Amino acid sequence: MNITTISYLRHQKQRQQKFASITAYDATFASLFEQHGISVMLVGDSLGMTIQGHDSTLPVTLDDMIYHTRCVRRGATKSLLLADLPFMCYATLSQAYESAAALMRAGANIVKLEGGFWITKTVRGLTERAVPVCCHLGLTPQSVNIFGGYKIQGRDKDSADKLLADAIALELAGAQMLVLECVPVTLAERVTRALSIPVIGIGAGVMTDGQILVMHDVLGITGNRAPSFARNFLVDCEDIPAAIRLYVQEVEAGEFPATQHSFY
Ligand code: KIV
Repeated sequence: MNITTISYLRHQKQRQQKFASITAYDATFASLFEQHGISVMLVGDSLGMTIQGHDSTLPVTLDDMIYHTRCVRRGATKSLLLADLPFMCYATLSQAYESAAALMRAGANIVKLEGGFWITKTVRGLTERAVPVCCHLGLTPQSVNIFGGYKIQGRDKDSADKLLADAIALELAGAQMLVLECVPVTLAERVTRALSIPVIGIGAGVMTDGQILVMHDVLGITGNRAPSFARNFLVDCEDIPAAIRLYVQEVEAGEFPATQHSFY
């Protein structure tokens, strides 16, 4: 397996070749994911919920993210590793620079920030300083208290147009990738077509360039908290490696997410 780079994913987008990614938080799972066909992993601040037992991502600290990024990097040496800048760790430019540098030193290849037009200056500054940035739009979990819950975003025309304008502004500011979470299929398609950078969807339908799921959802270990857009791949398989291979295969074939995992 070759080392996966951002330019490789851009190339995949141009060839309309879809790719699967997954969250990872430790070396053992990261190594297993890499061995079974995943080459893009996110050390998500979802670890606040999946690992730490909180009910949101807000309590996650930069030190938590550094620790888990180091663990994942030790397990997955060839994958493209995204790492989340946690809540309020990029509120100012200098905070963003310090936080991003710490995650890059821990082994990340690209940092992920939640937000639209208001983070363009941060995106430009980080990019100029050699830190690749992935932006996250739609249902951005760090804003759960502004949204009043985990709700689908971009359903009406104005908010859909605004999200598209934000995405274009972020690409122009230098963003190298975009995660789109919980938006209608048609909006995800508009954004994916408008951008030349790879767009990774979660609860955004089948038209994005890549898909990402939280590993606990893929393996059905979220109890009764599994979101409707996710799928437990382990129920159809005899073990975890087979479930990961099935997830990758269905994403690459454009079979996952199906209509029942999408919003309209
Ligand atoms: O933190 C996370 O796991 C994420 C994914 C849901 C995309 O941001």
